[in-house]
Amino acid sequence: MVAPAKFWDKNAEKYAKSPVRDEEAYEATLARVRAHLPADAVALEVGCGTGTTALKLAGDVGRLISTDISARMIEIAEEKRLAANADNIELRQATLEDHPFEAESFDVVMAFNFLHLHDDMAAALREIHKLVKPGGLFISKTICLKEWKSFPALMIHLLPLMKLVGKAPDVVTKLSTEELDGMITAAGFEIIEADHYPKKARNRFVVARKAG
Ligand SMILES: C[S@@+](CC[C@H](N)C(=O)[O-])C[C@H]1O[C@@H](n2cnc3c(N)ncnc32)[C@H](O)[C@@H]1O
Repeated sequence: MVAPAKFWDKNAEKYAKSPVRDEEAYEATLARVRAHLPADAVALEVGCGTGTTALKLAGDVGRLISTDISARMIEIAEEKRLAANADNIELRQATLEDHPFEAESFDVVMAFNFLHLHDDMAAALREIHKLVKPGGLFISKTICLKEWKSFPALMIHLLPLMKLVGKAPDVVTKLSTEELDGMITAAGFEIIEADHYPKKARNRFVVARKAG
């Protein structure tokens, strides 16, 4: 079972209009992602939303396939891709579980703000591991909600209510950094770089390699 597309379809317009919450942290993340991307890489981004990050990274890889469960997210991303003439990006409505890609097709698989929203993280990581070529990379950014100490932590207690009224997705997993890193490692990856951007918000950035 995957997180239903309905919530994301409904929120796609709003998502497209929301500004990046912390521009400095976002740019720091992009810089670290770029540092690991081979210029000729064939990359997959799962849960790409409205394609903001895909467009930022298009010039840093050979080819980027970005997928999302939500048809509306992909429609908006496609409008942005056309406007930017980003010919090396392909956008597709597909899920991490249901897609046309063969095993070991990608030099890099990326997932930003995605894993904690998946209803079976271990299975998601197994699928990602399958899609990465031997020696290839998984690059992820995922919020570790168990470690939120600032004011928005209050929001965590409101999550059940927010889900009930359709203001939050059905699945939001509260992770610690240790749990997240442990799951990535358990899926068969070796973590080669990790940090939090921004540190305060416990948004965990991980670069992990599949054994070659
Ligand atoms: C919080 S948004 C993140 C979007 C984008 N990566 C970003 O960082 O702004 C999560 C995205 O994952 C997508 N999604 C959720 N479950 C999915 C699944 N199983 N397969 C593919 N996409 C999924 C949603 O439609 C949504 O666009």
